[in-house]
Amino acid sequence: MALYLKLLKFLKPYRKKLVFAMICMSFVSATQGIMAFIVKFVMDDIFIKKDATMLYFIPAGVILLFLFKGFFFYLQAYFMGYVGQRVVTDIRNLLFVRLQQQPLSYFDKTPTGQSISRIINDVTLVQNTVSDSVTAVLIDVFSIIGLVGVVFYRDWWLASIAFIVLPIAIYPIVSFGKKLRKVGTKTQKSVARLTSFLHETITGQRIVKAFSMEHYENERFKGENEEMFRIIMKRTKIRALSHPVMEIIGGIAIAITIWYGGNEVISGRSTPGSFFSFTTALLLLYEPIKKLNKENHNIQQGLAASQRVFEVIDRVPEIQEKPGAVDLGKVEGIVEFNDVSFKYDDKMVLHNINLRIEKNEVIALVGESGVGKTTLANLIPRFYDITKGRIEIDGIDVRDVTLPSLRQNIALVSQDVILFNDTIRNNIAYGVTPDMEKIEEAATMAFAHEFIIKLPKGYDTVAGEKGVRLSGGQKQRIAIARALYKNAPILILDEATSSLDAVSEVEVQRALENLMKGRTTIIIAHRLSTIINANRIIVFEKGKIVQIGAHNNLIEADGPYRRLYELQFKDRPQKKIMKIGKKSHV
Ligand SMILES: Nc1ncnc2c1ncn2[C@@H]1O[C@H](COP(=O)(O)OP(=O)(O)OP(=O)(O)O)[C@@H](O)[C@H]1O
Ligand SMILES: [Mg+2]
Repeated sequence: MALYLKLLKFLKPYRKKLVFAMICMSFVSATQGIMAFIVKFVMDDIFIKKDATMLYFIPAGVILLFLFKGFFFYLQAYFMGYVGQRVVTDIRNLLFVRLQQQPLSYFDKTPTGQSISRIINDVTLVQNTVSDSVTAVLIDVFSIIGLVGVVFYRDWWLASIAFIVLPIAIYPIVSFGKKLRKVGTKTQKSVARLTSFLHETITGQRIVKAFSMEHYENERFKGENEEMFRIIMKRTKIRALSHPVMEIIGGIAIAITIWYGGNEVISGRSTPGSFFSFTTALLLLYEPIKKLNKENHNIQQGLAASQRVFEVIDRVPEIQEKPGAVDLGKVEGIVEFNDVSFKYDDKMVLHNINLRIEKNEVIALVGESGVGKTTLANLIPRFYDITKGRIEIDGIDVRDVTLPSLRQNIALVSQDVILFNDTIRNNIAYGVTPDMEKIEEAATMAFAHEFIIKLPKGYDTVAGEKGVRLSGGQKQRIAIARALYKNAPILILDEATSSLDAVSEVEVQRALENLMKGRTTIIIAHRLSTIINANRIIVFEKGKIVQIGAHNNLIEADGPYRRLYELQFKDRPQKKIMKIGKKSHV
């Protein structure tokens, strides 16, 4: 019921068109009753009384009736289709908006394929319900009302008996519907699982092939597919059963009618015309009732789908702006962690972090893989909300400001580079109005300009398009250009130069050093050579800060940093470096 009400809310803006369509439908349906009604005159006046004027009058009336029906059928189909499609477009838009409002933690937990399946498959099912099934149901219901009127008018006694028996026919409709709804949910879940499985294996083909896991994945796919087959067969069974059950009930009703009606005509209490008119109406009733049953299945399926759609639409994002959140404006760039602890689900990842990063300071986060460096950086743009403590920018808690104003102040080059299926130009100017001169400037600084202009369409080349395969290092340089272009006071570089060769890295490093001037910068890097010049280096161990200091001080102090440093540099044989140096000289 609540689901219906939610769907109705989407219909509200189109209620005028909807009401108009419904009026047209009632006209379409009325023709059914009228047809059954005039059967009496066909029988009694034409066939029994042999009235010649009626012979012209009635066929002409029938043609007019169908013209009338056709006209209103067109109108109702057009307007219902319009309303249905509009509603679905609105739902899809809203669903996408809501999806984008979800915090990263939602996407960590929800497989990509599942989100895609909601927007594509589930919304399509809702569409079928709204535009096709609801129309069919309304037409059927109107037809039933008209036909029932005729049935009662012709023989109220027999009609009464018929309608006492009717609930017996309604019962299986309801029970089949319930079963189908359950199976419908399972089917869609199975489709979603299959979609997400496909998404993973297709995007991960390189890995699948590299590990020769084709056979394994084939088996996994077969398993999922088999499961879907099983569920769909359940649905097929219910559908296959519901048809004969309904038909048998119908047959019994017809047999009783013939027996009783024949008796009435033979005894002279009724005319053949009345009897045939009654029977026609009853027979015509069978069709819409049967269709109601079928539509019921579709509607149940649509409702199951809309339930999943509303799950996302109604989901309250964990990360939200406070009411009355203020605009942060352009900040100086003082970032302060005050006793910050953080956990993803239940595993504590950061413990009591206290750190004040000054304006224009360059901070480097180092530590083994998995200690929480990326996590700490992700907390500044509020990708996740902290579990304990406070994070302040220029003394303002990040939870007290609007999200766009917060994120405008932060440029991020993430560990995994994402380029959108758009031109290089728009990829660099992502989220900011494109200005060609500045884009080229940013690209030049990031050492990307040179290879970009060699691409088939230069800056207008679409990244990821056929034939345009960018290397890991090229993508990274575009990502750096994107961050440069954003020109934000706080810069986060998470392994931003990790895919570059030594030569490019030195060059990009130099470019980044220019960029860091006048900005608060947080660098995360495994290669310590890239962070030697940072004002302060923060060493992490198991989610805790264990050392803070400049490179030279940390090397002198015999601590974790020195061990990290020695691991990277001490064992490297000097001779080899010399040799490589010589070779490159040649
Ligand atoms: N989205 C997530 N959901 C749950 N746990 C996560 C998530 N991201 C990271 N973790 C866990 O949090 C811990 C810290 O991860 P994080 O990515 O911050 O490490 P890192 O220091 O950046 O490592 P690396 O140097 O390998 O990039 C890890 O144990 C990881 O398993
Ligand atoms: Mg990381």
